[in-house]
Amino acid sequence: MNGKKIPPYLLVIVGGTGDLARRKLLPAIWKLRERHLSEFRLIGSGSGKQHNDETYRDFVARSIEEQGVDLRESGDSFDWCYYQSVGSGTTAEFKALADRVLQIEKETGLPGNRVFYLAVPPAVFPNAIKNLGEVGLNKSAGEIKLVVEKPFGQDLKSARELNILVHQYFEESQIYRIDHYLGKETVQNVLAFRFSNAMFESQWNRDRIQRVEITVAETVGAEHRAGYYDHVGALRDMIQNHLTQLLTLTAMEVPTAIDADSVRHEKVKVLRAVSPLSPENVVFGQYTRGAVGGREVEGYSEEERVAKDSQTETYVALKLNISNWRWQGVPFILRTGKRMFKAITEVAITFNSPPVSIFRQFSINEIQPNKLVMTLQPNEGFDLSFKVKEPGDVYRLSSQRLHFQYSEVFGRVPDAYETLLFDILKGDQTLFVRSDEVEASWELYTPLLSRKFPVHKYASGTWGPTEAEQLLDGSKWTTI
Ligand SMILES: NC(=O)c1ccc[n+]([C@@H]2O[C@H](COP(=O)([O-])OP(=O)(O)OC[C@H]3O[C@@H](n4cnc5c(N)ncnc54)[C@H](OP(=O)(O)O)[C@@H]3O)[C@@H](O)[C@H]2O)c1
Repeated sequence: MNGKKIPPYLLVIVGGTGDLARRKLLPAIWKLRERHLSEFRLIGSGSGKQHNDETYRDFVARSIEEQGVDLRESGDSFDWCYYQSVGSGTTAEFKALADRVLQIEKETGLPGNRVFYLAVPPAVFPNAIKNLGEVGLNKSAGEIKLVVEKPFGQDLKSARELNILVHQYFEESQIYRIDHYLGKETVQNVLAFRFSNAMFESQWNRDRIQRVEITVAETVGAEHRAGYYDHVGALRDMIQNHLTQLLTLTAMEVPTAIDADSVRHEKVKVLRAVSPLSPENVVFGQYTRGAVGGREVEGYSEEERVAKDSQTETYVALKLNISNWRWQGVPFILRTGKRMFKAITEVAITFNSPPVSIFRQFSINEIQPNKLVMTLQPNEGFDLSFKVKEPGDVYRLSSQRLHFQYSEVFGRVPDAYETLLFDILKGDQTLFVRSDEVEASWELYTPLLSRKFPVHKYASGTWGPTEAEQLLDGSKWTTI
């Protein structure tokens, strides 16, 4: 991020006392404020009445310290932070929020530039959007922006309804739908890698690539999110958003420029080209008791707030086909799971094998194809595997790798929310999900939501149910 100053803004976080605000948004704002924000004010808002401005300033300071920041030398009294409850969310309570916004803008000379960040439970989105509009907070002499956290809808119907509602009060150019994966430097680097290295881009098609695997594996279980997660599952929680974002960035055509319209246009085209998913190409799983990193953990159905006979999937693997000139016939395999063997996010590209083996000792099946693995977390970097002859009289091939790791070269990478908040304030929508994109994604997965798939059990600390291997047509997962 460069040292660009942002014009004066008032940021209202509806949900400013929640987990996301505490762990991510407030620390990110503090870092941005130091570097880019001159005149800036924050109103935290929640349903509770437990805070006033003073106690909320303490809450903000503690949230920042919890992320390892030493505030003793900062001299910051946090007088730029305020608290205003919206209680049970009536229009009158939002009117009180509107009065507070106008009062702070008047007192501090802010020109009416406002960001409303909805960091509330998804069920609260519609009421908050409607009331922001009804009390006139969507209009001012300055710039107005609305940020909506994920998930945007629970299926195609609810996503469409939410789009219709939000468009009643805000223009699409004012709306920032968050998928925080897009804020990760390494995810954006998929584009840099593809479109600034002509060597790879010329290989990036059905003539050269055998298959693509996209993996987001977590070692955590549902734990404190279990009550919510049991109604959602991995398909909605991970596949529809994060893995689909990685899919579109990996598969999209070259945009005319890295700007919001060009990039998002190409991503939507990918989603529209995906063939309807066949049930036999979808595998669901659920973790049972096991050990992760040497620690005994309980099974999903033993977690608090999970029904004992819950059929919610904590693992999904699915194979899809992008029916266009570039990708027809190349399987894209998406897999995600909780309580897996290790936490990793990666895109693994398997290239075609040589057409014949000229090494009499080896059949063509023994010559492993080249692989490119883009690791997005942890140990962000790239690995390209290739074959060399081992020294000696006997002709023996060995697989070696070219390796690049970001941290070795660039050190710390900014948190995704820092990047996303900076882009929101700058008015750059490239890393946010457009209305047609979110609908195209739900259109793809909604038919699966009403089907009853068998939910295969897998022990915690493994790579998921063995049934998923059927998606690989006799090959093996790149990462196991
Ligand atoms: N936590 C994460 O790491 C994470 C990651 C990605 C996306 N998200 C998304 O971010 C959003 C917030 O998640 P969270 O984990 O921060 O939730 P949370 O810890 O439950 O916090 C919810 C926040 O919303 C407020 N709230 C609840 N009901 C409200 C209402 N009717 N009107 C106004 N405010 C209300 C709460 O205020 P009170 O405390 O005063 O009730 C609190 O500030 C969700 O949409 C979630 O899907 C969260």
